[in-house]
Amino acid sequence: MYRSQSCGSTSLDDLNKEVVLSGWVHRRRDHGGLIFIDLRDVEGLVQVVFDQDTSFEAYNLAQSFRNEWVVQVSGVVFKRPVGTENSDLGTGDVEVHASDVKVLNQSLTPPFYVNEEGDVDENLRLKFRYIDIRRSRMKNALIQRHKIVKYIRDFLADKGFIEVETPILIKSTPEGARDHIVPSRLYPGKFYALPQSPQQLKQLLMVAGLDKYFQIARCFRDEDSRLDRQPEFTQLDLEMSFVTKDDVLSLTEELFTTLVSRHFPDKIVKTPFPRLTFEETLREYGTDRPDMRFDMKLIEVSDVAKKMDFRVFQKVIESDGSIKGITAVGCSDYTRGEIDDLTDLVKSMGANGLIAIGLEGSGGSVKDVDMTSVKSNISRFLTPELVKSFATKMNASYGDLMLIIAGDDRSTNDALSALRQEMAQRNDLINPDILAFAFVEDFPLFEWDNNESKWDASHHAFCMPKEGYREYLYSDPGKVIAESYDLVCNGYEVASGSIRVHHRSLQEQIFRVLGYSDDQMDERFSQLLNALEYGAPPHGGIAPGIDRIAMILLGRESIRDVIAFPKTQSQIDPLFEAPSAVEAAQLDELGIRIVE
Ligand code: AMO
Repeated sequence: MYRSQSCGSTSLDDLNKEVVLSGWVHRRRDHGGLIFIDLRDVEGLVQVVFDQDTSFEAYNLAQSFRNEWVVQVSGVVFKRPVGTENSDLGTGDVEVHASDVKVLNQSLTPPFYVNEEGDVDENLRLKFRYIDIRRSRMKNALIQRHKIVKYIRDFLADKGFIEVETPILIKSTPEGARDHIVPSRLYPGKFYALPQSPQQLKQLLMVAGLDKYFQIARCFRDEDSRLDRQPEFTQLDLEMSFVTKDDVLSLTEELFTTLVSRHFPDKIVKTPFPRLTFEETLREYGTDRPDMRFDMKLIEVSDVAKKMDFRVFQKVIESDGSIKGITAVGCSDYTRGEIDDLTDLVKSMGANGLIAIGLEGSGGSVKDVDMTSVKSNISRFLTPELVKSFATKMNASYGDLMLIIAGDDRSTNDALSALRQEMAQRNDLINPDILAFAFVEDFPLFEWDNNESKWDASHHAFCMPKEGYREYLYSDPGKVIAESYDLVCNGYEVASGSIRVHHRSLQEQIFRVLGYSDDQMDERFSQLLNALEYGAPPHGGIAPGIDRIAMILLGRESIRDVIAFPKTQSQIDPLFEAPSAVEAAQLDELGIRIVE
């Protein structure tokens, strides 16, 4: 027997009990005649005391212990002497007086401290991930992630969902990224593709009559990594038959609200989740994944701007662009340097520049404007009436700063969305305890790819066109709205889904708009198109990203911090040193030659 119980669970209930514990030496303190070690296992730490009067041999051996050695201790649980209790430790009222000890394994000095949470270079953490996961931050992340996934499994199983695994070696499943491909040995020159998501497979399971399916599914996309993106990630993939959009959204809302109240009770979730259209979210937040923990909406000011004799505005109005802004409350005292920094930020997002109008003073609505209190980089184009009109339109008071961008819709929205986030951070408007979930719906089915002059699917090709928009598939595809939806939270897209097409003819028409010939459709999608002809039920679903959800719920900055063995930003696994070369014989077998 290695242990009678875990280190972290030892408590006053065990007083005077003979226990056997196994774990890692977390810390050792030598007090001359007495040695204390904190012994650690996955459940926590317990203090072990080696006293030469209790066991000289154990005491002697403990003198040689180094951090991270693996030891087995036998001893008796005592209450700690009054005044030496440690309220920071779950086991802080007790200590184990060792009568016997064995070294189960020694350890090299770890490349970074396990008993300190200080910053360590991420590459080093990933190279020694097995040490990193010993530290409480990573360990807790994985334990919490397990609880999230277990909650999801139980919730869905209770609702009658069936968990089904789908293949990893499959054919291209387009989701907008590049495929990871795997060469076939038996069929040289042919390849499997790893699934970007189980999209078509879950639809086939609906045709197969399973009714309610889910899977904690690995997805693979060869796209650039970011803090919220990995080339290999996990989705909760789910699909239901005979459902409307509202059925899917209310199930999703119930799943997330109950998950949070069960495992993250300190978080604040507003229900019902607001529902915004895609068009509304772009207009009001400049992005389809708005951070709704704070207000500061974007305000269109073209009608005021057009009254100005200012070339920049006139040009934008002539070219049908946008002139929009935000009001930063209490920021009228921003310096030239601070405005320059904000200008650099918006320029990096594609804007041409930033117009700032500060209303010096302290509160109160703007009535008769005295130009001496107006601070602006376009002051020579402003009149008291114009300033008043801007202030009225933008709900600005004395003390506030109006920040305005003029340009094409896309870059104006991108820049203002980034600026809004920046100003919220600078002004401390973000309550980190809030989880501001919202559904975004009514996305266009297609978006125009300017580079390739063709239509792309905004979400994917399998989304049902919304009632009343189907005829535009033939006449004006850009107008077609899809029965699709995203779940967003705190500025991240956490889930995406749609009601699907379940008739072959409609699915074919969508493929045609996307530029597929009949042969290409047949070659790439016959599995789905054929199935749609065998009594496919109406169906729909959604896929929340587990890594992103865990990152947000745990308040981490990067999804790498909630994944046991992630890839770096440059798609490297520093632990296994993947990707790596393979044997020449393997390449020969696959009929592959590397061209330098
Ligand atoms: P989508 O491509 O929007 O939809 O993905 C769904 C959710 O998966 C997460 N996600 C990612 N997480 C980490 N790294 C990535 N590279 C990554 N890409 C996506 C996001 C996203 O919201 N088949 C559809 C779903 C459906 O229609 O049911 C799909 O995959 O949280």
